[in-house]
Amino acid sequence: MLTTADLESRLSNNAITVLERRYLKRSPEGRILEQPADMFRRVAAAIAAAEDQFGHGEEAAALADRFYDAMTRLEFLPNSPTLMNAGRELGQLAACFVLPVGDSMESIFEAIKQTALIHKSGGGTGFSFSRIRPANDVVLSTKGVSSGPISFMKVFDAATETIKQGGTRRGANMGILRVDHPDIMDFIMVKKDLTVLTNFNLSVGLTEEFMKAVEDGREYDLINPRTGEPIKKLDARKVFDRIVDMAWNSGEPGIIFLDRLNRDNPTPHVGDIEATNPCGEQPLLPYESCNLGSINLSRMVTDDSQVDWQKLGDTVAMAVRFLDNVIQINRYPLPQIAEMTRANRKIGLGIMGWADMLILLGMPYNSDQAIELADRVMSFIADQARDASRKLAEQRGAFPNFPGSRFDEDGEAELRNATCTTIAPTGTISIIANTSSGIEPVFAVSYLRQVLDQDILVEVHPLFEAMARAEGFYSPELMKAIAQKGTIQSFEEIPEKVRKLFVTAHDITPEDHIRMQAAFQKHTDNAVSKTVNFPHSATRDEVAKVYRLAYMQGCKGVTIYRDGSRDMQVLSVARSS
Ligand code: CDP
Repeated sequence: MLTTADLESRLSNNAITVLERRYLKRSPEGRILEQPADMFRRVAAAIAAAEDQFGHGEEAAALADRFYDAMTRLEFLPNSPTLMNAGRELGQLAACFVLPVGDSMESIFEAIKQTALIHKSGGGTGFSFSRIRPANDVVLSTKGVSSGPISFMKVFDAATETIKQGGTRRGANMGILRVDHPDIMDFIMVKKDLTVLTNFNLSVGLTEEFMKAVEDGREYDLINPRTGEPIKKLDARKVFDRIVDMAWNSGEPGIIFLDRLNRDNPTPHVGDIEATNPCGEQPLLPYESCNLGSINLSRMVTDDSQVDWQKLGDTVAMAVRFLDNVIQINRYPLPQIAEMTRANRKIGLGIMGWADMLILLGMPYNSDQAIELADRVMSFIADQARDASRKLAEQRGAFPNFPGSRFDEDGEAELRNATCTTIAPTGTISIIANTSSGIEPVFAVSYLRQVLDQDILVEVHPLFEAMARAEGFYSPELMKAIAQKGTIQSFEEIPEKVRKLFVTAHDITPEDHIRMQAAFQKHTDNAVSKTVNFPHSATRDEVAKVYRLAYMQGCKGVTIYRDGSRDMQVLSVARSS
C-alpha cells in the first residue's frame, strides 16, 4: 500500500516555476522580491488580519500561523488571485464574477469596461447575453437594424485579447445564451470557426421546457427579449442534435441547466441566476463575485490508508473562516460588486487531489466504492462547511440577504454565507499543490516534457513511481514507453491491480465521468467543474446519451471533450493557463 509519505510535501519544480512566473512579488524592473514561503506568509497574514474587523484581533497571529501551515503543507490553497494579490496593493482576491449585460449600447459598453477592470485584477467574468435583442431586429433610435448578441460578444472578446490581464492571467469569459433566444442557432455554430471568440467558453442555457420538448419531439418558442413575444418556433430535437454535433466536433458549446441553477438559488428574492463564471462551476447573480479555495484530499489520508476525517473536518472549518475573511478584506473592482458580494457572502470551498486520494486508499476511480466514497466525502465537507458558516454567523452575523432567503423560508439557522461549496477546476493551484486537479482522474501516469535545449524528460506520477518501485517493475525504459502510449492498460508486465488503480481520464467511460460528477454535485451548493472525456472514435449518439444522463443524474451542466477534436488538448491548455 502507498502512504502519504510517498507524496512529498515540499514544492515541486513545476510548482516553483509556476509561482516564479506569475505569483511572486516583483520589483518594477521584474526582479523577484519574495520566495514561495514569503508569499504564503504574506497571504496568511493579510487574511488573518481581517479578524480585527470582527473584534478578534488578538487571534490574528495564531490564525495566520494556522493558515500558513495549511498552505505550506499543501493541505489547502485559495484561488490564484488570492495568492497573487493578498497583502498587496491590488488586493483583488476573487476568481469569479458575473456582470449584467442589458439591451442597450450604454449597458453593453459599460459591461465591457467593467470586464476590463476585472481582468486586470486576475478575475474571470461570466455573462448572459440573452437580454440583447436578436440580429436584424429594429433599433428605434437609429431606424436601423440590430447586430445581435454574437457580434457584441466579439467586442468583449477583442477587449479581453487586448488586456491579457496585465501579465498575470489570461482573461477568461463565459458567454451564455438561453436556448429560446432567436439567435440560438448561430450561437451554437459560432465556434465552427476556431479563430473567433477564443477568449470565451460558451454554454447554451437549457430550460426544463426545452428538455421536455426534446423528450416529446415537439417544437418550442423562440422569444424576442426586447418584446417578450414569441417570434419563431424550432424543433427541439434538431436544436439538441446541433448542440451535440458541435460539442462532438469541438467540445463547445457546453450546456447548463438554468432552471436547476435557479432551484438552488439561495436568494431568489434578490435576483435570478442567468450565468456562471468562466469554467461553469460558480453560478452567480449579476454583479456578484465569489472566492474559491480547495482542500487537497491527497493530504487527508492517514498513514494506514484511511480517510483522516478528523483532519478533514478541522481543515474545512479553517478554510471556511479563511474564505469568509477574504470577502471582508477583498478590494472589489466596482462598488456594485462590493455591495452584492458583501450582501450574499458566497464562498466556494472545494477539493483537489481526489484521484490521488483514491490511489492512496487503493480504490480504482471507476469503481462503485469510489462513487460511494465521493458521496460520503462531499456530504461530510458540505455538513462541516455549513456548521462552520453557522458558527461564524453567531459571531459575525448572518449574510445580510439572509432574511427572505431560502434558508430563512425553510426555518433554518442563520448562515454567514449564502453558499459554501463549489468544485473548481484547480488548474493552477493543483500544480502548486502537486496533486491531481479537482475531481478529475489522473491525466497521465507518465508523460514527456520538453525542457531547455530540446532535452526530453520523462515525468512520472510520484505515486505511480513509488508503486512501480515497490512492486519491482520500475525501469526508465518502461516509464518512457508508458509516456509514449499515454496509458498503462496494455502493459502486461504491470500487475492487473496496479493497472486498475492507475486509470487515466481516457481509460474510463464517459458514464464513469458523469457518475462521479453527479456524486459530488449532490452535496455541492454551487456546481462542479468536470470534463467528460470521449475517445476519438465516439459517436454523436454517445455524446447525446451522456448529455441526457447528466440531466437525469442531477448535474448542473456538462463539458465534454472528444480526444483529438481540437488542435490542442484541452488539458494541456488548461494546465498552462
Ligand atoms: O487553480 P486556480 O485557482 O488558478 O483556478 P481554477 O480553479 O482553474 O479556476 C477557477 C476560476 O478562476 C475559473 O472558473 C475562472 O472563473 C477563473 N479563471 C480565470 O478567470 N482565468 C484563468 N486563466 C483561469 C481561471
